[in-house]
Amino acid sequence: MSAVKLAIIYYSTYGTNHAMAEIAAEAARSAGAEVRLLRVAETAPEAVVNAQDGWKAAAEAQKAVPVATPDDMEWANAYLFSGPTRFGQATSQVRSFIDTLGGVWFKGGLANKAISAMTSAQNPHGGQEATILGLYTTFLHWGAIIVAPGYTDAAIFAAGGNPYGYSHTQGAALDDKAKAAIGHQVRRLVEIAGKLAA
Ligand SMILES: Cc1cc2nc3c(=O)[nH]c(=O)nc-3n(C[C@H](O)[C@H](O)[C@H](O)COP(=O)(O)O)c2cc1C
Repeated sequence: MSAVKLAIIYYSTYGTNHAMAEIAAEAARSAGAEVRLLRVAETAPEAVVNAQDGWKAAAEAQKAVPVATPDDMEWANAYLFSGPTRFGQATSQVRSFIDTLGGVWFKGGLANKAISAMTSAQNPHGGQEATILGLYTTFLHWGAIIVAPGYTDAAIFAAGGNPYGYSHTQGAALDDKAKAAIGHQVRRLVEIAGKLAA
């Protein structure tokens, strides 16, 4: 069995981060990790979700994805978070999930675990870096070990050049360049998590 147990925790209103998380899951499994692909619970009222065709369709498409729990965070020894920006910050849905983790944190269940984050935004300068860095502030409080991609591979430059984590701009395709950058980020995460677990 793999030493690396990776929880990919994502939130996606319109499907972008869902697709990014699936790309990451495939790359992580190929790298030998045991992977749980998990979505955080939707906190918006059902009536609000159903009032927007795009939101409703994405919610339908994600129904089968298990909802992340604190137990998943305890199980994993590596984490990848993915979620869109909301005015330069992580979504309230992601923050709500994070707010359930006090108990696991108190037991030391989040410490010394490798972690990384991805995001998406409407605009290239619409808060992509700030959203990832905001999550990293929280991860530092956990004592998790941040594994950002940095400029460690040509794939980062080819896909927008964000060294903090892959970030996707709406409207662009999740093409081979995006897949290569996500793949590099997650392989690096799995590699470092494996070393920490050794
Ligand atoms: C309330 C709200 C605030 C947003 N704020 C920003 C923003 O500040 N900058 C930006 O570029 N995009 C912003 N967006 C666009 C989202 O980031 C975009 O819809 C998201 O990246 C799509 O990801 P998803 O398909 O996984 O939901 C916002 C969207 C909503 C609904």
